[in-house]
Amino acid sequence: MKSIKKKINELRKKLLKYDFFYHTLNQSLISDAEYDYLLNQLYNLELHNKELITLDSPTQKVGSYIINNFKKVVHFSPMLSLENTFDLNGYLSFEKRIKNVEDFGKPALFCCELKMDGVALSIIYEKGVLVRASTRGDGYIGENVTSNAKMIKSIPIRLNSYNIPSRLEIRGEVIMLKSDFITLNNQLALDNKKIFSNPRNAASGSLRQINPDITEKRKLIFFCYGCNFFKTTEEISSHYERLKQCKKWGFLVQKNILLCIQHIEVYNFYKKFEKNRFFLNFHIDGIVIKADSILLQKKLGNNNTSPKWAIAFKFPDKEKITKLIDVKFQVGRTGVITPVGYFEPVKISGVIIRKASLYNKNEIQRLNIHINDMIIIRRAGDVIPKITNVIKNKRLSNIKKIFFPVLCPSCNSLLIKNEDESIIRCHAGFICYAQKKRIIHHFFSKSALNVIGLGPSIINQLIKHNIIDNVMSVFYLTPEKLKKIEYIQEKKSIKIINAILKSKKTTFSRFIYALSIPYVGKTISEKIASYFITVKQLLDTNILELYSISGIGHTISNSIFNYISLDSNRNVIIELTKNIGISWDESDKRNDVLKKTFFFNKKIVLTGKFKSYSRREIKEILIKLGAKILNNISQNTDFLIYGKKVGSKYFNASKLKIKLISEKEFLFLI
Ligand code: IVH
Repeated sequence: MKSIKKKINELRKKLLKYDFFYHTLNQSLISDAEYDYLLNQLYNLELHNKELITLDSPTQKVGSYIINNFKKVVHFSPMLSLENTFDLNGYLSFEKRIKNVEDFGKPALFCCELKMDGVALSIIYEKGVLVRASTRGDGYIGENVTSNAKMIKSIPIRLNSYNIPSRLEIRGEVIMLKSDFITLNNQLALDNKKIFSNPRNAASGSLRQINPDITEKRKLIFFCYGCNFFKTTEEISSHYERLKQCKKWGFLVQKNILLCIQHIEVYNFYKKFEKNRFFLNFHIDGIVIKADSILLQKKLGNNNTSPKWAIAFKFPDKEKITKLIDVKFQVGRTGVITPVGYFEPVKISGVIIRKASLYNKNEIQRLNIHINDMIIIRRAGDVIPKITNVIKNKRLSNIKKIFFPVLCPSCNSLLIKNEDESIIRCHAGFICYAQKKRIIHHFFSKSALNVIGLGPSIINQLIKHNIIDNVMSVFYLTPEKLKKIEYIQEKKSIKIINAILKSKKTTFSRFIYALSIPYVGKTISEKIASYFITVKQLLDTNILELYSISGIGHTISNSIFNYISLDSNRNVIIELTKNIGISWDESDKRNDVLKKTFFFNKKIVLTGKFKSYSRREIKEILIKLGAKILNNISQNTDFLIYGKKVGSKYFNASKLKIKLISEKEFLFLI
């Protein structure tokens, strides 16, 4: 009792002195953290020895101390976060940066650890006794969770072994095992209570319980990943050695730790745990690599948010949960209406994502998705964001049904559904502003006429200023007209005009692709361009001929035929090729060469099994030689090339007296 009284008096004396210097002389003798810390110690001692409280104690000053379970504590040194990388290059530049800093002649060693996905905790020990535990908070000010931390079995109240420093800070992660998380959620569900969405939230919620008895029941685990000494004489100069010492003091330290010299070892460690992490009973979201030398760490120092001596090499995330805020309906180039979901931003694999396509009406129905629903976002193949699911048991009463529009959101034309209602289209074409800008942009895009510098924003401006209204009008642009757009100057306008002029020399397939015919992408454009030699042939074709082209089915042949049947489209094609002069030398030359081949312009059907090449390879060879591959025999067929085990095509061709070519003859001819 005597020594407690003495300690209390010492603390009061110190604090009153600091108060005097601070308030009266305007001088800070110690840091805020140190002051808070001492005041907290005094408060704890008085709490358990109420008879020793005096009215002049610094704890009794109005406003100086509020009794609060989670009172704010100022950290002695900020609890920073880590710089992230998701790829080896990011790690390599970190390693290079470290190696560039001289570590007193020694080669830099790196310590690789698992990055546990839990809650960061700082614990202060005075002469080996736990006196304070706090969460990270905003990195500078955390919450006092001492009573709760004391309930975690893997946090020693008193340190074991020797070499105990006068004051020590241990930092680490409080986690919940996956198996304990499942058991906890099952129990919460049975008790009709709110469940946790993941082990990290469960760990955080359990640590921040008002009643420490609940924390005790929650089976939390604390893993130590570092420590700070307060006196230089007590230091151990290697991070790895420090962790070994922490283990001796009685802390749990991850057994998967690797000291290494260079990136190959680091990368192997990363790959090993990227693959095996699902077999661990706790979540990890990457690995942490730290410069092992404490001297080097000090030399490197910190940024505002993270230390320069450590980096998190994170595994690509798969999914995140967020809230759907809105659905907007986008009008595509070919008039297809696509619902796009906008949600509260989430970061997946280092990229912030705000929206994802909901594809079509069927997808909205399949997901049974509503505005204000909690949804799961995944980056498919780590690139395109996708809404994969709705968390139905988190649904609140404020959900709103999503109604598919009846009229085009851009031009108000009536939308038309296809048979199964999966595709809903605005058929207004150029009349529809949204389609117009996309069609024009697509026409001059990289894979089409490839006009560099004519991007969507310039096209939008040109349409808005009534300078262009369709694809043709772009060819009549002049530098003067272009300069009407604020940010386009002389030099840029000349550059764009030259690029437009240059784009008139193109290929037939690029031209077809540029037209924005529904379902006609680059591959189909190439097929059409190698079948028809001239624009006239394309415009004069019929649906049967289109359907007979290999690789072109019902939907595509219908779509092409519908397109070329419309006078407005035919006129555009004629205007572009005749008056404006879009042409394709390249294919003409190719055709001249091809004209000399046996198969040039011949309509060919294949049947049976081939030995020398696969059927696909034979088709490719023939197309390169200028042939047209058809699916079925008709009077127009020139040759039937047959392999083994022929089918009905062989007999139909014989009946129609079509020339039959065996595989052997075919090989000879090519
Ligand atoms: S070292 C400056 N080592 O990751 C912070 N942190 O994103 C130095 N974490 O808040 C921390 N496992 O709570 C370190 N082996 C590990 C870790 C680790 C998990 C957490 C830590 C920090 C967060 C940063």
